[in-house]
Amino acid sequence: MSLAKKEFKKVTTHSLQQMKDQGEKISMLTAYDFTMAKMVDAAGVDCILVGDSASNVMAGHETTLPITLDQMIYHASAVVRAVDRALIVVDLPFGSYQGDSKGALGSAIRIMKETGGHAVKVEGGVEIIDGIKRILTAGIPVMGHLGLTPQSIYKFGTYTVRAKEEAEALKLKEDAKALQEAGCFAIVLEKVPASLAKEVSEMLDIPVIGIGAGPGVDGQVLVFHDLVGMTHEFHPRFLRRYLNLYEDITGAIGKYVADVKSVDFPNKDESYTS
Ligand code: KIV
Repeated sequence: MSLAKKEFKKVTTHSLQQMKDQGEKISMLTAYDFTMAKMVDAAGVDCILVGDSASNVMAGHETTLPITLDQMIYHASAVVRAVDRALIVVDLPFGSYQGDSKGALGSAIRIMKETGGHAVKVEGGVEIIDGIKRILTAGIPVMGHLGLTPQSIYKFGTYTVRAKEEAEALKLKEDAKALQEAGCFAIVLEKVPASLAKEVSEMLDIPVIGIGAGPGVDGQVLVFHDLVGMTHEFHPRFLRRYLNLYEDITGAIGKYVADVKSVDFPNKDESYTS
């Protein structure tokens, strides 16, 4: 049984630090609604991310940029109502924290007050450090996010692996140190070479949670819809699919359609008598 299940009723930022210190890997998965979050929590995931990937998988946008703070609050509130154990981290959406530190604090306070979530996540390094420090002054835990940061996709131009070149790897390491020094409780590293991710994890005291960052980090995060195979056309190298729900669900619904057409459904047992 995992350390978190054995010793902690609720997972906290402190428990995640203990997991890193004791060498237990951290499991993290996204969720965006009540029903999904109930299953993720019941399965024993340590940390639930209400990711701005909701913009893609829930709303059908091409990028994470369009999702609003109000929409993130809607998703996070539903997740909070479902969860008993996991630590709930909520993404601050694009445009809600990059302007100035007062604006960043205001957005983080709305998340904490209106959703009941436990922490916020922001994308970027030294360029947003003032905002991070200001959020932390209010006692709000902050998770950083470096490497491929989807809110900057129009700057990168592609979703390919980041920090393969030395200059970018150096900048990433400086950013990671700055996030830890500012007081972040953990960072996500997305789509970077496994060797670099391992180096960052060993360099930092705080947990480093990877997605497409290899096994040498302190935990892993995936998007719910990818893990269960609902996004069946998405095949990044880092993804391990545990189910193929796209086929299961379309198959089941196809059968329902056929049963309605043939009047096989509903049958006598599925109908009320007077
Ligand atoms: O929004 C999200 O789902 C994320 C994960 C990919 C880390 O940020």
